[in-house]
Amino acid sequence: MIKLVVKDLHKKFGGLHVLKGVNFEINGPELIGLIGPNGAGKTTLTNILDGAIKPNSGTVYLNDTRIDQLEPYQVALAGLGRTFQVTRSFRRMTVLENLYVPALAMGRPDSKPAIHDKAMSVLEFLTMDHLRNEFAQALSGGQQKLLELGRLLMLDPDIVILDEPFAGVHPRLMDIIHEYIRRVNDEGKAIIIISHQMDSIFSLSQRLLVLNYGDLIADGEPEVVKHDPAVIEAYLGSDEDEEEPEPATETQS
Ligand SMILES: Nc1ncnc2c1ncn2[C@@H]1O[C@H](COP(=O)(O)OP(=O)(O)O)[C@@H](O)[C@H]1O
Ligand SMILES: [Mg+2]
Repeated sequence: MIKLVVKDLHKKFGGLHVLKGVNFEINGPELIGLIGPNGAGKTTLTNILDGAIKPNSGTVYLNDTRIDQLEPYQVALAGLGRTFQVTRSFRRMTVLENLYVPALAMGRPDSKPAIHDKAMSVLEFLTMDHLRNEFAQALSGGQQKLLELGRLLMLDPDIVILDEPFAGVHPRLMDIIHEYIRRVNDEGKAIIIISHQMDSIFSLSQRLLVLNYGDLIADGEPEVVKHDPAVIEAYLGSDEDEEEPEPATETQS
């Protein structure tokens, strides 16, 4: 059974206290929305969960393995995968080669033909099979997002964190991403979706976490959280026409 236990996470960047004691657990294949204003600490939390940065204090256990001091590749092997707000494909490799990389790099025992077959089925699911021999740099922004989702599937993680999967995506691709999320969840994986797209968040999530400048101010059923005065005050009620965050300035390792 999938279990993630996040305990009292703190993160500071210099004088900026970005996570102020974040606690939550995931038990089983939950589909969770993580929302909050720009700068709330959502990406920082993701970066800690996947091992890209280390917390100042606090712990993260995934299926009883402590992961908060591990490197990203070790966290991926332990079963947690994530996508990036700013996509990170290998631009001069083909779409198909991009999908081979995680499986080969992780030293999984699958044979090369098996990896190829899996990559082909992933591409078919993402309706990208016709793009398999294109260089990743030729893809549109939305197609790059799909490619990242495909790379996650190649790793078979227990928990996936999708950081702004809908930002900048053409409406036609939105349905594919929604279907992807539902299917991956049906396959028994836990998913955290970080997004400002409230329609998607409310149609997909069974549980909602609200992060407000380092504090987790709500954790519960979306219908309940939606009416929580603290959440309305901090986020939902404030700006009706919230813009998509501008991803270009983000730095991640
Ligand atoms: N590497 C970093 N160095 C310094 N400040 C950072 C760094 N990463 C994020 N921050 C700051 O931490 C805060 C939270 O950022 P972030 O986690 O990206 O928020 P969100 O994803 O919720 O929009 C912001 O004020 C951001 O500027
Ligand atoms: Mg972010």
